Amino acid sequence: MKIATTVSEIPRRSEKRRVLVPTMGALHAGHISLVRQARASAASDGEVAVSIFVNPLQFEPGADFSRYPRPEGADEEICRAEGVDLIFRPAPNEMYLENRSTFVEETSLSERLCGAARPGHFRGVTTVVTKLFHLLAPDAAVFGEKDFQQLAIVRRMVRDLDFPIEILAGPTVREADGLALSSRNQYLNPEERAQAPVIRAALLQAAASKEKSAAKILAAVRAKIGSASLTRIDYAEVVGADDLQPRLTIAARSLLAVAVFFGRTRLIDNIQLG
Ligand code: PAJ
Repeated sequence: MKIATTVSEIPRRSEKRRVLVPTMGALHAGHISLVRQARASAASDGEVAVSIFVNPLQFEPGADFSRYPRPEGADEEICRAEGVDLIFRPAPNEMYLENRSTFVEETSLSERLCGAARPGHFRGVTTVVTKLFHLLAPDAAVFGEKDFQQLAIVRRMVRDLDFPIEILAGPTVREADGLALSSRNQYLNPEERAQAPVIRAALLQAAASKEKSAAKILAAVRAKIGSASLTRIDYAEVVGADDLQPRLTIAARSLLAVAVFFGRTRLIDNIQLG
């Protein structure tokens, strides 16, 4: 396994298929499932690359950038055990020069849902993903459905800007009690952690109901999540999976998406309806 910490150390592309999994590290079973999907897509003669970069551009000022976990040794071990061929783990000053003045911005899907609560967040994501795509030149890249808005925005960017890169989606990996794995889960205190599965429970209840009215579904979701004393709902919406526009009635490819605060920790999850 090659570890590149500078741009010049990235091995030149060969004819082999290269599949990239972009991450911010603190790798958990969700990331690992994407790495395995990348391996399956690259096949035994292809290359799996994992980027590990806590991207300062996508954190709002004063947010959790400095406290974001950076377990470098453990991440390396996981990648080695998974047969990863290349880790790209640059320092922030390797990715961004002080007088940088160019960004990549998706201007429609990025405005809504998580984008409304986190201005500039998705601009940071699309900018860093563009740089990673240029630097590593993968044939395909894998993103998780847990961050469905990020997935939709990356797909839109790749389409709009003609990146010759196939975008693959991986299903959300969960704890036994239904909580979606996230590196932010470790910020939850024991009481918050005990209540957090209410998010998945509310989504499952909505998916199981025969209700077609988005408003009625959302009222039930809000009531269920609100029944846990430590929750504060940031948003709960029914949207189309590709355009992320609100849907009034449930149809094919409708997605129920929620963001819920426990204290300062914001958790997101989603489920397909219809
Ligand atoms: P990060 O939060 O590290 O996530 C890296 C990838 O893992 C993303 O595609 C995310 O959707 C996926 N992922 C996270 N939790 C998951 C879970 N429980 N099951 C399945 N997949 C999961 O997302 C980012 O980093 C950054 O925004 C990045 C794309 C790397 C750009 O900086």
